[in-house]
Amino acid sequence: MARRKIVAGNWKMNKTPSEAVALVEELKPLVASEDVDVVFCVPAIDIIPVAEAVKGTNIAVGAENMYFEEKGAYTGEISPAMLVDAGVKYVVLGHSERREYFAETNETVNKKVLKALEHGITPIMCCGESLEQREQGVTMDFIRQQVKVGLQNVTADQAKTMVIAYEPIWAIGTGKTATTEQAQEVCAGIRACIAEVYDDATAEAIRIQYGGSVNAATAPELFAQADIDGGLVGGAALKPDFGKIVNYK
Ligand code: 13P
Repeated sequence: MARRKIVAGNWKMNKTPSEAVALVEELKPLVASEDVDVVFCVPAIDIIPVAEAVKGTNIAVGAENMYFEEKGAYTGEISPAMLVDAGVKYVVLGHSERREYFAETNETVNKKVLKALEHGITPIMCCGESLEQREQGVTMDFIRQQVKVGLQNVTADQAKTMVIAYEPIWAIGTGKTATTEQAQEVCAGIRACIAEVYDDATAEAIRIQYGGSVNAATAPELFAQADIDGGLVGGAALKPDFGKIVNYK
């Protein structure tokens, strides 16, 4: 069965609640699609107003992070139940910016993945190499480690529902998109890794996105690749261009 494409915007630390609602109103008609799953992953404080603003549309709301405990003395953190109650369906976990600036590790990502799944939130688990790693030729070794540890104790049935985002760090926010061949090669490698850890059926079901300077010009070729099931979009998700990326065909 063909995998359904999924295009998600990662708004990062942009848009106040009122700006977020204005952006949703602007993008709503542009991202209408029957063929593609559309997700807006927004800052925590924007989740409730955005969830309200997307009611009755094809847009699902995602969070950009989540804590792995149920509740308690974790000042500043947000629990899975809070996200579910606010209408969140997806959560970005292990983004390279969280790994770099907020000490996220493969182990904490794994705890968060398990917790999100337990609560019925679909993880968008991120992986990706640095420029140094690419130049050293260890890209796939590094990503396999991220994927394998991130998926520890995740069942095959759970893994089938997940999204993995391949985001080469050197392509994020740099305007430097990976070439179609580079992106496809790593996404295929991730799928092969899933087949090894689980089985072919799981590898065929899991959706793998590419992220890193995706724009309206590069999306069509990237999303046409056999192992690329859509994109995780940063900068261009804040602009009308996002509509063109969703409707890339
Ligand atoms: P850009 O599209 O701005 O490069 O960001 C990619 C990204 O990090 C999405 O999570």
